[in-house]
Amino acid sequence: MSAAAWDDVRAAYERVAPEHMRALFAGDPARARRFSCDAGPWYLDYSKNRIDDQAMAALIALARASGVEARRAAMFAGERINVTENRAVLHVALRHRGATPITVDGQDVMPSVRAVLAQMKAFSARLRNGEWRGFTGAVITDVVNIGIGGSDLGPSMACEALRKFARPGLRAHFVSNVDGTHMSEVLRRLDPACTLFIVASKTFTTQETLTNAHTARAWLINALGGEAAVARHFVAVSSNPPGVREFGIDTANMFEFWDWVGGRYSMWGAIGLPIACHVGFEVFESMLEGAYAMDKHFCDAPLERNMPVIMGMLGVWYRALFGAASYAILPYDQYLHRFPAYLQQLDMESNGKSVQLDGTAVAGATGPIVWGEPGTNGQHAFYQLLHQGTHLIPADFIVAANSHNPVGRHHTLLLANCIAQGEALMRGKTPDEVRAGLAGMPPAPALLPHRVFPGNRPSNTLVTRSLDAYALGALVALYEHKVFVQGCVFGINSFDQWGVELGKRLAQAIEPELEQGRGETGSRAGVHDASTARLIQRVRDWRQI
Ligand code: F6P
Repeated sequence: MSAAAWDDVRAAYERVAPEHMRALFAGDPARARRFSCDAGPWYLDYSKNRIDDQAMAALIALARASGVEARRAAMFAGERINVTENRAVLHVALRHRGATPITVDGQDVMPSVRAVLAQMKAFSARLRNGEWRGFTGAVITDVVNIGIGGSDLGPSMACEALRKFARPGLRAHFVSNVDGTHMSEVLRRLDPACTLFIVASKTFTTQETLTNAHTARAWLINALGGEAAVARHFVAVSSNPPGVREFGIDTANMFEFWDWVGGRYSMWGAIGLPIACHVGFEVFESMLEGAYAMDKHFCDAPLERNMPVIMGMLGVWYRALFGAASYAILPYDQYLHRFPAYLQQLDMESNGKSVQLDGTAVAGATGPIVWGEPGTNGQHAFYQLLHQGTHLIPADFIVAANSHNPVGRHHTLLLANCIAQGEALMRGKTPDEVRAGLAGMPPAPALLPHRVFPGNRPSNTLVTRSLDAYALGALVALYEHKVFVQGCVFGINSFDQWGVELGKRLAQAIEPELEQGRGETGSRAGVHDASTARLIQRVRDWRQI
């Protein structure tokens, strides 16, 4: 069924690809109105894409033929759509605000979800009002989240995004990298008596997180004089209670989540604890409300007006038809400076696959490379390539109409730059326009081509009134569902991540070889290739331990 839909999409591509968007706009005054939609607090303008009505119709038909609706229903119904790990995929349950049950194997998960949210609410309130104190009786002033990947990127991105709502006097820190510098640089500034650690790990086996957690524990015990201090300064977030106990954290101080929540989809529940502590539970809840609004839109809006479906299918269009290997996330909002990094895991760990659900190789391309920086910084770095380079890089501009920091003309300038960049990418600048701009002083013929912009470079623009927690929740859920839609069309499992395993295992083998006297390099035994063996040997020789 989807083969015919792909044929239609290809036919649409053949027809539309040679068109310039300038001409499409000139010939269709209603284009911007037709190719835009609202979802919750977000307005999406997708008219600056290389599409026409038939192309969009073909893309939506492809979404249907790829089973997006059935798979969406299966996800929300708690079916085990993560087939390679035999797990349900129910991050939507964490932000479900309705009264209906959500079940896994006939069991309503909502009571447990609400219980953990209530536990988070109570704990964050106690921490913020100074009731939860450290071992010495000191008020907690610094919360350090120790986690990596999904146990770091979501909460750290959201704490940055919502920084304006944070309570002064309670700072949030995030340590993820196993590089001791990360932990040292954070601890250097902290008073152990006033510091609370949240050890966040779904599995509670992740090497980086456990290593960092042990270092933090030793630092605390050393400073506060004994193991007894741990209970007042360490809490855990995990789906592995025995692992938490073994580490030495009382499971009474543990916030649970479940195997049906993927790490990179987990900031809506217990993994969001640092967010709730930083900005307060009410603000955190508002983020859940925003995500829920997007979930409802995703479930209820017809595919033709469905924002995650439209964005997902546009991504498929450029990836599969135009061969665009990457796309840029360009938030014109300093508070969203970690959003591209967050999306890298969400998108690339989800859709960076080359095997279909049935185990056969994919026929075409799958997920793109995701990258980006906040505007306007990117304009003075890599936009040159976006405008005049040889790559086609679709971009998402994200901006709020109002700033939390309305200082002078800043926000007007920011908005103007954001809107101008989309216009410039679309319109470009023709040789005649270059000449006209230099009236009376035509450039040397050899210079003219350097000043021409080809244009016809696609972008989406997402606008909201103000980047509050509600808008943030809706934005993140939008991208989650967009990634989901693309996974359906690519025919892959967006919810596993086997590709991270090999490197982890090899690092375990190499670790002892890096220390004199602990292990021999595997070169002699032929364990490693010659390059790897020589690198190990060189590092061993140069290490000062
Ligand atoms: O290595 C990848 C990964 O498994 C991610 O999927 C996950 O978010 C991260 O590691 C951290 O895992 P955990 O929360 O179990 O420590």
